[in-house]
Amino acid sequence: MLRYVEVESEAALRDWREIHNLIIPTAPLSAEEVAERALRNHLEVAYLGDVAVGNSTVRPPAEGTSVVIARVLPAYRRRGFGELLFRRAVEHARAWGATTIETIVLASNDDGLRFALRHGFAEIERYVLPGDTVPFIELRQGPGPA
Ligand SMILES: CC(C)(COP(=O)(O)OP(=O)(O)OC[C@H]1O[C@@H](n2cnc3c(N)ncnc32)[C@H](O)[C@@H]1OP(=O)(O)O)[C@@H](O)C(=O)NCCC(=O)NCCS
Repeated sequence: MLRYVEVESEAALRDWREIHNLIIPTAPLSAEEVAERALRNHLEVAYLGDVAVGNSTVRPPAEGTSVVIARVLPAYRRRGFGELLFRRAVEHARAWGATTIETIVLASNDDGLRFALRHGFAEIERYVLPGDTVPFIELRQGPGPA
């Protein structure tokens, strides 16, 4: 149902960035920052028809731990798209050799926190970026069904 496009073109980069900055308004990324991240991370945009409805980030594993983040625009939530994006991103992380999955949620993202907790993640750390007020929460997935 969803079509996934890796961030390799200007159009995909623009769509990935727009979704990121709408969902994380406290820490917006420039086009240059996204382009730099696309070189080291696996970034994808999910399209429903021609509409970009979500995106994902997979960071390459460090000591077996990979950070995976799925994001779905509020208007397209609660249809299973987050689940599809998240599973796909985790598969990518595992193919890269990750044995442990972590995620990061902006503390004000209630939907994101609930999703992470429901998928067996538990908080390991929270931090506020310089000049920011809303903390980011880092969570790690425990063993057991995802
Ligand atoms: C986390 C996030 C990606 C989930 O996206 P989503 O598309 O709403 O995810 P899903 O639809 O798969 O699941 C969300 C809920 O909808 C429910 N749902 C799924 N399909 C449904 C359907 N067809 N009808 C009704 N409900 C449905 C799920 O059971 C789930 O319910 P729950 O919250 O009670 O557990 C989204 O909320 C988001 O972008 N949050 C901000 C970013 C973030 O913090 N990401 C970090 C988490 S990796």
